[in-house]
Amino acid sequence: MSTTVAASPAVSRDLGYKTFSIGGFRFERDEYFAHITYPTGRHLMPIDAFLRALMRDVAWGFFYGTVNFDAVLGTVNHYGTVDLFMGLFNEAYRSSNKHYVETFDSAALKKVYEEMLDDWTNEGFDPFAAPDETGKPFGRKHGNNRAAIKRERLVANRMVGLKGDLGYRDTPVNRQFSDVPSDKPEVHAEAGFEGEVHAYNFANYVSRSDVTWNPSVVSCVKDSQFCATTEENILPIFHGNDRVEWFVQLTDEIIWEVADGRTGKPRATVVMKAGDIAAMPADIRHKGYSPKRSILIVWENNDGSLPERYKKGELKPYPVEF
Ligand code: PHB
Ligand code: FE
Repeated sequence: MSTTVAASPAVSRDLGYKTFSIGGFRFERDEYFAHITYPTGRHLMPIDAFLRALMRDVAWGFFYGTVNFDAVLGTVNHYGTVDLFMGLFNEAYRSSNKHYVETFDSAALKKVYEEMLDDWTNEGFDPFAAPDETGKPFGRKHGNNRAAIKRERLVANRMVGLKGDLGYRDTPVNRQFSDVPSDKPEVHAEAGFEGEVHAYNFANYVSRSDVTWNPSVVSCVKDSQFCATTEENILPIFHGNDRVEWFVQLTDEIIWEVADGRTGKPRATVVMKAGDIAAMPADIRHKGYSPKRSILIVWENNDGSLPERYKKGELKPYPVEF
C-alpha cells in the first residue's frame, strides 16, 4: 500500500464530524464507521465498537498494558508515554511488515482521544452502557452526550464508605439485579475498636452501577486493588495484560476468549460461573462475553515494577504451578 492512501481523506462528505490527527495517524468518521489512515495503510472499525473501546481507553488512562480496539488497532501503556499501533500484535501484519507504531506523550494522545470521543458521540448514545440500555451512535452528527462520556473511573483510596473516601451509590439498582438485597451489615466491634471496623453492602453498591465493563476500585491495600464491575454483552476491548490479574466471578457467567498477547493466536476459552476464580497470565489478551449482567471482581496488582520484571523473564507469566 502506498502513502497516497493516507494523504487523501477517507471520508469525503461533510457529515458534521471533525477529523483528528496525531503524528502519522488520521481519524475520520462517517455514519457507520471510524476510518483510520496511517503511513502504511488504512483501517476501519464499526463506529459503535470504536466508541466503546475509545471510551475505556480514555476513562482508564490507557489501562494496564495493551488495549486492543480490535485485532489491528490499539495502545500500549508505558505509564507516561503510550504507543499507538496498527497491527503490532497481529501476526499477519507483522510477518508482511505492515505494522506501524508511534509513541506519544500520554497527555497528548489522551487530549486527542477525549476530543474525538466528545465530537463523535451523538446525543442518546452512551458508550459505557450495555447495548440494550442505550440509543444508537449512527448517522450524521447530532448533539452530544457529555454527561455520559465525562464519567470518571471511581477509585477508593481504602474502601467504599469510609470517612473521606468514595461514597455509596444512589443510582437505581440495575434491572437485572432486582434480587440483590439492600440490607446493611451489622457491625459489632470489640470495645475500643469501634472506629476501626467498617463494612458495607458490596453487592448493593455494585448492583447500582449504571455502566458496564468498567472496573472501579472498591477497596485497596497497598498495591492490592479490588476492582468491581458489572458486565453485560461484550468487553469492548481485547485487554493485553502486562502483569497477572485475577478474576473473581461473583454472579452469573462470563465466557472469556483468551489468546496469545503478541500474536493473537487462540489459547483458551474459559467459562467462569458464580464462585469461580481464575488467574489471567501476564502474556495473554482476553475478551469477555456476559450473556446476562453479572458481577465480576478484577483483582489488580498496582506495583509499577511488574511489567519490566515479566518482560525480563524474572517472573513467570502465571502465578501458580499445579
Ligand atoms: C480486563 O481486561 O481485565 C477487564 C477490563 C474490564 C472489565 C473486566 C475485565 O470490566
Ligand atoms: Fe485484563
